[in-house]
Amino acid sequence: MSQPSNSDPRLEQAAATDESLLASHEKLLGKKPDDQANYRLLPLNLLFVFSGLIFFAGTYLNLYSGHFDPKIYNEHALPRPAGAEEVVKVDPRELGKKLFNNAACNTCHQVTGLGQPGVYPPLAGSEWVVGSEERVIRILLHGLQGKVTVKGTEYSAAAMPAFGKVAGSGYNWSDDKIAAVLTYVRSEWGNSAGPITTEKVAEIHAKEGDHKAWAADELTKLP
Ligand code: HEC
Repeated sequence: MSQPSNSDPRLEQAAATDESLLASHEKLLGKKPDDQANYRLLPLNLLFVFSGLIFFAGTYLNLYSGHFDPKIYNEHALPRPAGAEEVVKVDPRELGKKLFNNAACNTCHQVTGLGQPGVYPPLAGSEWVVGSEERVIRILLHGLQGKVTVKGTEYSAAAMPAFGKVAGSGYNWSDDKIAAVLTYVRSEWGNSAGPITTEKVAEIHAKEGDHKAWAADELTKLP
């Protein structure tokens, strides 16, 4: 009887364990051992930290985002220095033009400033408009009635209403507005008289108070 040879490869295969088989198969397939297989649980303290952050961020947005309304939050707005007021400069002539054409003066004197023959006297080229500041301020504050001569023509058919903040005025315009509309009519349609200031209107307003509508010959006796 001959001894079985140890070098027989079939015997080596038969003696192989499961582990050694798996290992040699993995080697043959070129696979690396799977380290990821044994994952760890997320550390509890990290879970608390992140939950806290999410809670804080949510509360913060809820309180300060203004619901992302563009009107509430403007990140590009520059902070205004404390105590500084927002200054909106309005050109009195532009304001005057708007006032004139906004169904105030234009309904009678017309956009052209020419008035209506026989009823409403013209403002274009009128000696009353480009003449004495004080007289024309009085006309606007308190109104004008009776006969008035403008550019050689007499008018008496209608009355000019009071525009100032005075008793019996349906308009109650501030001294600013009176100054603006006068500045406009004195520099439009070829008129070239200087502007009228709010201070000047306020001065006449204080002097004459709630005077009734003026008569033209009453005005010509005043400066
Ligand atoms: C309801 C019509 C009416 C309105 C509105 C009116 N006026 Fe007159 N205005 C008259 C009449 C009428 C006279 C002439 C009064 C008279 O015969 O005594 C007059 C006279 C004048 C005069 C002096 C005479 C002249 O022609 O220069 C001025 C200045 C004037 N108005 C400016 C204005 C201005 C500025 C406004 C607007 C803020 C205005 N009026 C709104 C009817 C109106």
